[in-house]
Amino acid sequence: MRSRSAPTIDTVLTRLRGIVEAELGLLPSERDDTPFRLEERLAERERTVRSLEKSVTKGDADSEAVQRRKGTDSGPESSLTGRPASPMDEVIAPWKDCRRCPLCEKRTTIVFGAGRVPAPLMLIGEGPGAEEDARGLPFVGRSGMLLTRMLESIDIERETVYITNIVKCRPPGNRNPEPDEVEACRELLEAQIDVVSPKVIMTLGACAIRALLPNLSAGITRLRGQLLLYNGTKVVPTFHPAYLLRNPSAKKEAWKDLKLVRRLLQGGNA
Ligand code: URA
Repeated sequence: MRSRSAPTIDTVLTRLRGIVEAELGLLPSERDDTPFRLEERLAERERTVRSLEKSVTKGDADSEAVQRRKGTDSGPESSLTGRPASPMDEVIAPWKDCRRCPLCEKRTTIVFGAGRVPAPLMLIGEGPGAEEDARGLPFVGRSGMLLTRMLESIDIERETVYITNIVKCRPPGNRNPEPDEVEACRELLEAQIDVVSPKVIMTLGACAIRALLPNLSAGITRLRGQLLLYNGTKVVPTFHPAYLLRNPSAKKEAWKDLKLVRRLLQGGNA
């Protein structure tokens, strides 16, 4: 008689997880997201924030190198960092004490954005939340952790993209930004897109796509996954990570949108 060793509990659990994941259509990067790995997730979050903080500095260093190559070493100093101004510093400088809309009253910091400049992919959210307002960096809270994993699911490191929001100051109580607040920030957003010069823009949530392309009237459920254009740049709207945290079943759609972004970045079509 053939002796067959009994499967271990781990093997059975791994198989079961595979079946459940396939049923739920989870993002590949969501597969390890068990409560048992909470500490690991928290450590990962700290690493992300630290590397973001580094990438802000590195962005300046990169552009200094570009300026040296162009022979523009003696350019103006950034009023934000004291180092020679990077193209993004120059865009941001006139906004650093911005009081163009009422959001300035309650903010702790202005969250301009973070990441590489120029970058092939630019992500645009709605507005900073409490944690972003406290840290001065975009998407560093729970939504940010999911966003990082969404990018990783298409093999993109967060540090290689540029991330910003439609409005740069926190709307109190995480409400949607008002139209006048969006308009007050529009010129800055447009200048940021110009300097980042992305091949693809991915907008996160209804507010972001409506602010970027105000002529659209459909809801995010209809708009997501479509290939749209902003001044000739490809735009892919998807759900906001906060929505995905509340509605995990929508991750299936977000995963399709991410794959579209990957194809477009690789030079493919929609
Ligand atoms: N939600 C956003 O839209 N932007 C952030 O930076 C964080 C949460």
